Amino acid sequence: MRIVKVKNYEEMSRKAANIIAAQVNLNPQTVLGLATGSTPIGTYERLVELCNNGDVDFSQVTTINLDEYYGLEPTHEQSYRYFMNKHLLTKININLANTHVPNGKATDIEAECRRYDELIENAGGIDLQLLGIGHDGHIGFNEPSDEFVMGTHCVTLNEITINANSRFFNSRDEVPKQALTMGIKAIMQASRVLLIASGDDKKEIMKKALFGPVTPAVPASILQLHRDLIVITPLDI
Ligand code: F6R
Repeated sequence: MRIVKVKNYEEMSRKAANIIAAQVNLNPQTVLGLATGSTPIGTYERLVELCNNGDVDFSQVTTINLDEYYGLEPTHEQSYRYFMNKHLLTKININLANTHVPNGKATDIEAECRRYDELIENAGGIDLQLLGIGHDGHIGFNEPSDEFVMGTHCVTLNEITINANSRFFNSRDEVPKQALTMGIKAIMQASRVLLIASGDDKKEIMKKALFGPVTPAVPASILQLHRDLIVITPLDI
């Protein structure tokens, strides 16, 4: 694990974007695993700038997102497809057909999960996976549990996550209670993982995840076993 300590959110975002851009420049056909949430917004802003300045070309890149709320249309303002299009995908020169988010409106959830795992496999796996971390240690929507779940699956979001995500909705009741998420296998098989976290409210969980026991009770702790984990954070951990 390599921890890059930065001054603040802006520096974290700039460094993360530079690593992603370098990866795409080294391999224009890169498969990027992407996250949503507040944390990567600055990273995506920097990537849009780099692309507009001609410093990175996304035309041959494939993106595979970690997760999607179950039951939300891709056009719903709180869906993760909407988020990705708004913050990154429609602002860079990527072919939208090569951008993937689980289908939150799938009627056959099992089939959708299998489709997503096959999609990741057919893409040759993920070259660089960007991750944020939840207050309960979730990555993607892999919530604390008794075991690590390998494949894409449907999860019931716990109270901590619903409360944290309710800030984006008009009311807590509107937050979907379930989500589809990539499993631990695809994340751990990514060639490189880039974990970003900022805000004092993430300090304790970051310490637990990176230096505590590896346990499905803190899903992000599995990242300690990843062969190429880069952590960029302004937090004193
Ligand atoms: C969302 C995702 C989640 C978030 C986590 C932190 O695609 O992967 O694991 O990274 O919930 O969210 P923020 O960044 O909003 O604190």
